[in-house]
Amino acid sequence: MNTPESSNRREFLKLSAMAGLSLGLGAIPSAAAAPDPKNLKLQGHDEISVTRPRPAGNKPVWDLQTKPLQKVRCAFIGLSRGSTHLNSALNIDFAEVVAVCDINQNRAKGAAAKVKAVSGKEPAIYMENENSWEQMVARDDIDVVYIATPWEWHVPMAVKAMECGKHAFIEVSAAVSVDECWRLVDTSEKTQRHCAIIENCCYGEEELFVLNMARQGFFGELKHAECAYIHDLSQGVLWQLGSEGGWRRNYHTFMDGNLYPTHGLGPVAQYLNIGRGDAFKFVVSVSSPEFNLSQYRDAKNPNGGKHKDEKYVCGDMNTSIIKTQLGRTIMIQHDVVSPRPYSRINALSGSQATFFGYPGRLAVNPSNPHPSIKGMKLNSHSWLQDEKLEAFMKANAHPLIKKVGESAKKVGGHGGMDHVMNFRMLDCLRQGITPDMTVYDAADWSSILEISVRSVKDGSMPIQCPDFTRGGWKGIKPLGIVS
Ligand SMILES: NC(=O)c1ccc[n+]([C@@H]2O[C@H](COP(=O)([O-])OP(=O)(O)OC[C@H]3O[C@@H](n4cnc5c(N)ncnc54)[C@H](O)[C@@H]3O)[C@@H](O)[C@H]2O)c1
Repeated sequence: MNTPESSNRREFLKLSAMAGLSLGLGAIPSAAAAPDPKNLKLQGHDEISVTRPRPAGNKPVWDLQTKPLQKVRCAFIGLSRGSTHLNSALNIDFAEVVAVCDINQNRAKGAAAKVKAVSGKEPAIYMENENSWEQMVARDDIDVVYIATPWEWHVPMAVKAMECGKHAFIEVSAAVSVDECWRLVDTSEKTQRHCAIIENCCYGEEELFVLNMARQGFFGELKHAECAYIHDLSQGVLWQLGSEGGWRRNYHTFMDGNLYPTHGLGPVAQYLNIGRGDAFKFVVSVSSPEFNLSQYRDAKNPNGGKHKDEKYVCGDMNTSIIKTQLGRTIMIQHDVVSPRPYSRINALSGSQATFFGYPGRLAVNPSNPHPSIKGMKLNSHSWLQDEKLEAFMKANAHPLIKKVGESAKKVGGHGGMDHVMNFRMLDCLRQGITPDMTVYDAADWSSILEISVRSVKDGSMPIQCPDFTRGGWKGIKPLGIVS
């Protein structure tokens, strides 16, 4: 039986054998051709890299401070989802949009026109071909590059941007393979540039409320969390050519696991201080059979029969369980094809309280000593919900929500959470402080994609999680509650 412990031992033997070998980053592969996701180096069970030696000269970036900036000069690659971030930047007085890039020329020109209309300044446009972004990230008047392109482009673009001295903000998931996660970590540590995952769901009102309360000890000892990305994309999005349907469905043809882990996982990883006092230890993963994509394709013949020979291997529902180094458990699900309402579950259970999202519900131990519940008649068998929960959440809102929550709703983007995130992330660069979501978070959260695939492939065997901080997680301070 392959237990986490036996994997650990094999890894130790492998690392011992490799001792003395440099695992430094090689030359950045040319992005001359579009990356083919099927060529991503996925690791077999015997190649698990629980850790890798830090290449000589590289330094950790978990507390990287950078020069404060008066204006944060932003550039954008990918202007479908990326247009939301661009809109956010246009609504932040200390941000400036310097350049935009998309091979879809209408999107590139449309974004540039919007920038001109709002700011009065015409940004540079890059749209000639799929490598034009390389010229853009080489400019010397950009501080941060937002990357909102198909998943296979994320890492080549972020690596190159950092090599050119820019911070990289990458859409979710930041990377597809564990190997790619290591490339992000190693490049960020080598270049001393931030490489953040822009996981907007960490900035939802409910998520920030739970984080705020967890930090205040309201939940007591934290022991279990549940999360998910449950969103039926099978009726439209996954077939839309010229948008996500042009590339995202492809992943369903060769990977069976959790293909989109970070929306659910990012917030609960923050509640549990993953990478900052606790760490993912191992994952077991199971997938249901595949039905819905095939059935929809066969029934509706989308795009004139173009997809008739596609074979979908990703099970409709993937359920993974993560065990952490401190013994806590996280259940995480992925289902983008079943007929059911959207949910990220967003549950946290501690010794003194339990929260569940979708819809929001809170159960509190009557002996909970937290002052916020003084005078409330609570018992642990029933939920505080609806208006009562709303009032409780309002009274205990995260300071960031109190500060920018209302104005963010006006800017928009998933009810405002996109703008709360962009405001906070760009403000960190302005102040020169470490963003809330670092390259280690990008790697930890995204790595569950390939790890779940590997576990499913291996009959749901436990798969060890890499330690991208190389032991640093034991001493890194928990994320503060900032205003
Ligand atoms: N956080 C969220 O809520 C959220 C929502 C939607 C999408 N996303 C993520 O955002 C990313 C993009 O998704 P999307 O929905 O915008 O996809 P999309 O296919 O609609 O848009 C991708 C854009 O990238 C452009 N592009 C592709 N290759 C390029 C290249 N080499 N150079 C320049 N431009 C290039 C395309 O022309 C397109 O306009 C994905 O990682 C996705 O997972 C996140």
